[in-house]
Amino acid sequence: MEHPKNISAVLGLSWGDEGKGKIVDALASQFDFVMRFNGGGNAGHTIVLGEKTFKLHHIPAGIFSPDVTNIIGRKCVVDFFDVAEEIQQLQQTGVEISPKNLSIAFDAQVVLPFHKRMDILREKIRGAGKVGTTGRGIGPAYADLISRVGITLGDIVKNSFQEKLQTEVRMHNAIAREFSNEEILLNELEEKIFSLQNFLTPFVQDAYSLLWKRLHEGKKLLMEGAQGALLDAYFGTRPFVSSSLACLHGALLDLGLSFSDFEEIIGVTKLYNTRVGSGAFPTEFSDEHLRDVIQKRGKEFGATTGRARRCGWLDIPTLKLVSNVNKVSSLAITKVDVLDTLDEIKICDAFISEKTNTEIPFLPGSDEYLRGVTPHYKSFVGWKRSTAGIIAREFLPQNLQTMLRCISEETGVPIQFVSTGAKREEFVKMY
Ligand code: IMP
Repeated sequence: MEHPKNISAVLGLSWGDEGKGKIVDALASQFDFVMRFNGGGNAGHTIVLGEKTFKLHHIPAGIFSPDVTNIIGRKCVVDFFDVAEEIQQLQQTGVEISPKNLSIAFDAQVVLPFHKRMDILREKIRGAGKVGTTGRGIGPAYADLISRVGITLGDIVKNSFQEKLQTEVRMHNAIAREFSNEEILLNELEEKIFSLQNFLTPFVQDAYSLLWKRLHEGKKLLMEGAQGALLDAYFGTRPFVSSSLACLHGALLDLGLSFSDFEEIIGVTKLYNTRVGSGAFPTEFSDEHLRDVIQKRGKEFGATTGRARRCGWLDIPTLKLVSNVNKVSSLAITKVDVLDTLDEIKICDAFISEKTNTEIPFLPGSDEYLRGVTPHYKSFVGWKRSTAGIIAREFLPQNLQTMLRCISEETGVPIQFVSTGAKREEFVKMY
């Protein structure tokens, strides 16, 4: 059977927090399905609609578009309690959510309190070498997936989870007992699961058969990435990465697709860079005042954990490779308005090896690599006027347009969207 071509993706090109949620929300009404294909409650997609701000963790950002069916994919890890709370909180604020517009894949791995506990415990034991995880149990839940153990949502809705739960709780308690005296109580946990079983069961569906059928009837799917390429478990700056596949390969494996099946692959990056948690960040600001300005103007505090994000300049060497690997067909550059007040804006155009003093390409898969590079910068004069809320290309300052041209030329990827604010309508469509 021929693969459909009516599939697009929105991917983060950096260490997450690029503004993917806003882009997905803005595009969602052009699609029939929006599917999250990786990650879990570690994601924090912020969506601003009018005066209301919503934070999504598991639920795809298509949820605010009335005719879209949203799917939490089978390679996501789903926190059983948090996802229920997320649905209920959105319902309470008047967002229409029901099994009609939200499906959670039957096969998705479940995150339970012992995953979170293991995540936090491991970080504590690692001390200074910690990853700086979100503490949402992501690593331990993906370890279950790869180890072919743990519990799926299907197990819970079919009521066949008890034996597995017993094994998992025993295992986790045995390990945790070495380091703490808190035990997970099996009966208590089982009861908590039962108390939400009826609520969540209608959402847990075989979304894939229906999706596949509809795609062959010409319906359109947008695949929503969480985190970013540099946090991808294999491709990213290991070990300071998340545990899911945040690159396009995550989306490909989920549905059995190839790169050529995609109509559009939109890569999202801010006009500057941020990183949360540990790891090398060659372009990180050394100027604390500059960092404070960007953190404040860009609201660079985690949507999931509230942690302050580290801030730095955009770098072309990673952007170029990440765009190439993910076959990015166009870029969405977000948060340009955050830089409105700066006299000078830099973009790193090359990495210089500290050993040989020569230019080197970015190589994926290891954080260590980035520790041995010195960024070389191109400097731009700031535009020093407000770009907030601009929606037409001709109103973007010339200096900003020069920077955008440089990014496009250096990466070889056209810029399709320039986001000028948090609200859905605040962006410029460049072509
Ligand atoms: P984990 O995904 O909680 O295991 O965290 C692993 C690393 O990924 C840490 O550095 C986190 O800060 C980072 N991370 C995970 N999710 C996000 C995200 O949505 N935005 C930014 N960083 C993230």
